[in-house]
Amino acid sequence: MTSGGDAPGLNAVIRGAVLAGERTGGHSFVGFRNGWKGVVEGDTTPLSRHEVKGINKLGGTILGTSRTNPNDHGGADRVKEVLADAGVDALIVIGGEGSLAGAKELADQGVPIVGVPKTIDNDLDGTDYTFGFDTAVGIATEAMDRLRTTGDSHSRCMVAEVMGRNVGWIALNSGLAVGAHLILIPERKTSMDEITHYVKGAFDRGRAPLVVVAEGFQLASMDEAYSTLGTDAAGRPRLGGIGTMLAPMIQDATGIESRATTLGHIQRGGTPSAFDRVLATRFGMAAVNAAVAAQWGHMVSVRGTDIVVVNLSEAIGSLKVVPPERYDEAALLFG
Ligand code: F6P
Repeated sequence: MTSGGDAPGLNAVIRGAVLAGERTGGHSFVGFRNGWKGVVEGDTTPLSRHEVKGINKLGGTILGTSRTNPNDHGGADRVKEVLADAGVDALIVIGGEGSLAGAKELADQGVPIVGVPKTIDNDLDGTDYTFGFDTAVGIATEAMDRLRTTGDSHSRCMVAEVMGRNVGWIALNSGLAVGAHLILIPERKTSMDEITHYVKGAFDRGRAPLVVVAEGFQLASMDEAYSTLGTDAAGRPRLGGIGTMLAPMIQDATGIESRATTLGHIQRGGTPSAFDRVLATRFGMAAVNAAVAAQWGHMVSVRGTDIVVVNLSEAIGSLKVVPPERYDEAALLFG
């Protein structure tokens, strides 16, 4: 099953698991539809070699996803009942921090679960990378290369908002790739004075300033991330709009005409990069091995170039934030 926000590569995990499982152990698979919702409702769909043909290139998830929390719908008892009825010996949960935390709780109560880490934000501890991140960085980089040429033509400051609820990995990597004049991330509060300094500095050198901002960024004067869209199904504030808030503030402070673009879900949609397809396929294959070895309560992970298996508690204990030294390294090129 796939759970939480989608990420390019989900289908490649599914295909990797099904092909490897059928070939190596003669195992058979079903997919639960729409995340934990489908699990607690016992909503399955067949998953054989036929259904997964060619889907490694496909964005989204053929199974659908949701942010349903199984612990609000009968918890471990209900999940065990559904698995028994469906003749399922192991549940592979492909999800981000929230979904894996739910999976850990169930595994602790005896549900046979193996996790696969997923998020475009790349904020999960316990793995060097999650699939979807490389694709998101690629899409953001391409979009900002485009913003630069229109910004240059008009001598404007362009503000590009990327995803990143709690961490700034997408902003940092796409910002470095595109040569941004300022990168603003959730891990580092920044004042309007600092922002003005870098934007004016770039403009005064004859450049059209490009500012990359992660959706979870906060000005030094803010107490929480910018959110005007209510909460999501998991009760978290829906983010998005900080770039649109900042652009007029930058224009007022610098006198430089400014425009904002929010990249939003474009970063999550469409075909996965080659890197993400490979990582996701290897994760899917390794998840089947972990299930065969009854490594319940564990997840697959990448360390360097090796796929390893780690306890789920390693992934949900804390977030993988951008270390200060990585931000400072990038900041040497600001302005
Ligand atoms: O967790 C990944 C993420 O892309 C965050 O960066 C973002 O805040 C969130 O998903 C948005 O998800 P949705 O709009 O699907 O609720």
